[in-house]
Amino acid sequence: MQTVITICDTCRFSEAEKLSPGGETGGALLAALVEEGAREGAEGSVEGGAVSVRRHSCLMGCERHCNVALSAPGKLTYVLGRFAPEAEAAAAILDFARQHAVSDSGQVPFRSWPQGVKGHFVARIPPLPAT
Ligand code: FES
Repeated sequence: MQTVITICDTCRFSEAEKLSPGGETGGALLAALVEEGAREGAEGSVEGGAVSVRRHSCLMGCERHCNVALSAPGKLTYVLGRFAPEAEAAAAILDFARQHAVSDSGQVPFRSWPQGVKGHFVARIPPLPAT
């Protein structure tokens, strides 16, 4: 099952700065890096694990910068933030998302977390009950 990575494209560049030196939001920069990684099929620590990326303007976590959410039907949703909009963060997000995609529940064991997501978790939301 595919995991959807939702990236806030209006998030601040950093805790202190709204825009990058080039005038872009951190969210737009991070989204572009994650989109590029997803297109290139960067696998990270797992084989397979289908992911897609979408942008959304404001996830209402604006006190943090560079917020993302990972979700899939019937699985845990993870919300993460405070990323630097850099390639290393994008790779870690994709790696974690691919592990989420191959997990039946969406849960990713701590021992498998990419270093780049540690310290960035905001919330873990249980799936809605099946109807
Ligand atoms: S601007 Fe990104 S969460 Fe509000």
